[in-house]
Amino acid sequence: MKKKLVISSGAGISAESGITTFRDAGGLWENYPVMDVASADGFARNPALVHQFYNERRRQLLDARPNAAHMALVELEKWYDVYVITQNVDDLHEKAGSSRILHLHGELMKARSIPHPERIYTLDEEHLETTPESRDEYGDPIRPHIVFFQEAVPNIERAIEWASQADIFVVVGTSLAVYPAASLLHYVPKTSPIYYIDPHPAPVPDRVHVIAEPASRGMAELVKELKIEN
Ligand code: OAD
Repeated sequence: MKKKLVISSGAGISAESGITTFRDAGGLWENYPVMDVASADGFARNPALVHQFYNERRRQLLDARPNAAHMALVELEKWYDVYVITQNVDDLHEKAGSSRILHLHGELMKARSIPHPERIYTLDEEHLETTPESRDEYGDPIRPHIVFFQEAVPNIERAIEWASQADIFVVVGTSLAVYPAASLLHYVPKTSPIYYIDPHPAPVPDRVHVIAEPASRGMAELVKELKIEN
């Protein structure tokens, strides 16, 4: 049986694909007040601004391709059962071809009905934009399928389950500033190694092996180490 390799990815894994991160210098939250464009209160106050923010993010994503770090996670499936937990709302893990992906903070290329949140719609290049006036096939208003600040994170339970079953846990490209995602590494069994790839790593417990490199280079190093020769 293959070992379970669980990944927890953040914005940094997509940086080399041209997607702007949130908290780096020049990051999104430097130019947009986070509580205006990504919170439940902000959406209630000015939904047009929030729609516009996510329309821009979608346009940026259209030109983005997975980079070597996303591809390395697919390669690791040769030797491991790989589970990807991502805070990212982009679809680059999907485009790379990872088999199991759990989005903690929603998905940029989806919108959902406001009165019926279980009705989720996939957007495409021709229907990329949403506005406060957008309606679904039932005539109901829709919103970005994003977990705003001040909202619950529905997938966290499953993410905790995956983390607590990890034989190896890899954190990549996250400032570990946002909870509950940042707490996942605390659920990893004491006997399972934890790696953290980030050029500017946040403080982490001593047991974590830090690889202070950009995602592509750090993942290449890790693949060399985890590759099972046969
Ligand atoms: P942040 O912007 O907070 O952190 C990005 C991390 O990526 C930092 O630790 C950088 O050092 C690192 N980084 C930058 N370039 C990198 C590269 N080439 N390779 C690897 N790492 C690199 O992004 P997240 O931690 O993902 O949520 O942010 C978490 C959440 O906060 C997001 O999901 C988003 C945001 O508010 C919502 O909007 C709900």
